[in-house]
Amino acid sequence: MPVPVHAEMRGVTRIYPGTNGKAGVHALGPVDLTLRKGEFYSVIGPSGCGKSTLLDVLSGLSRPTAGEITFEDKPVDGRVPDGVGVVFQEDASFPWLNVEDNIAFGLRRAGVDSTEIRRRLDYALGLMGLRDFAKAYPAQLSGGMRQRVCIARTLVTQPRLILLDEPFGALDAQTRLIMGDELLKLWRETGATVLLITHALDEAAMLSDRIGIMSARPGRIIEEVETGWPADRDSRVASDNRFGTITSRLWAHLREESLKAIGQGAIK
Ligand SMILES: Nc1ncnc2c1ncn2[C@@H]1O[C@H](COP(=O)(O)OP(=O)(O)O)[C@@H](O)[C@H]1O
Ligand SMILES: [Mg+2]
Repeated sequence: MPVPVHAEMRGVTRIYPGTNGKAGVHALGPVDLTLRKGEFYSVIGPSGCGKSTLLDVLSGLSRPTAGEITFEDKPVDGRVPDGVGVVFQEDASFPWLNVEDNIAFGLRRAGVDSTEIRRRLDYALGLMGLRDFAKAYPAQLSGGMRQRVCIARTLVTQPRLILLDEPFGALDAQTRLIMGDELLKLWRETGATVLLITHALDEAAMLSDRIGIMSARPGRIIEEVETGWPADRDSRVASDNRFGTITSRLWAHLREESLKAIGQGAIK
């Protein structure tokens, strides 16, 4: 039985226009990408290849220069559709609000009633392991916990498609593994489709159903790898024999593209 398509990019390119007579930057594409409903899909690629640009245009935060994007069969056109949640690369928590108020921020603005907000807050605090820190302020939390606050804030809007841009980039290796497991738990419990942008090949290999490898800029998807992991997986798949096969396959492509990216001066 074919799996229903949840979101799709067809021939999508993004060229940042040049300013003050300087040439523009062809950052992305053309990209063709099909996200199946309920899958965990990761995108890996070298630094500067257009990963954040891909997330920006797919989410509707910015318009592509060419090509078509759909979410649930409707065109995505210049704004984030209902049902899509974005977690940004940088820590976007509000320092003046405590954890609870950070997480509830969007719901209050949307006028969701207080009983419903309480219900969703309790669920998100529990899932992200933040219950004991509900009244704490971001400055009192570790980087990993602040990132969980940002994920929880997106989660309470009950997205059917969650887009995450290198959410664990600033974390140490152990915390990254734990956070990856929490993301898998969230994915299983909510049934949402997940698109995770990462530069970490092991993270992609461990978490995903499928992995799209991007070329050096302008970023295109040059290869897709299916992992075949069961849905109830966690970071312990790293000790599975197949893990090495998957990472080698990813690295074979990524190595070449990373060398090109260094040639472009993208890695400083
Ligand atoms: N707003 C912008 N204006 C001009 N160039 C940009 C802008 N944003 C990104 N770029 C350029 O587009 C390319 C891709 O950037 P980005 O999508 O952030 O890559 P990645 O997330 O893979 O590191 C880079 O060369 C970057 O310098
Ligand atoms: Mg980026």
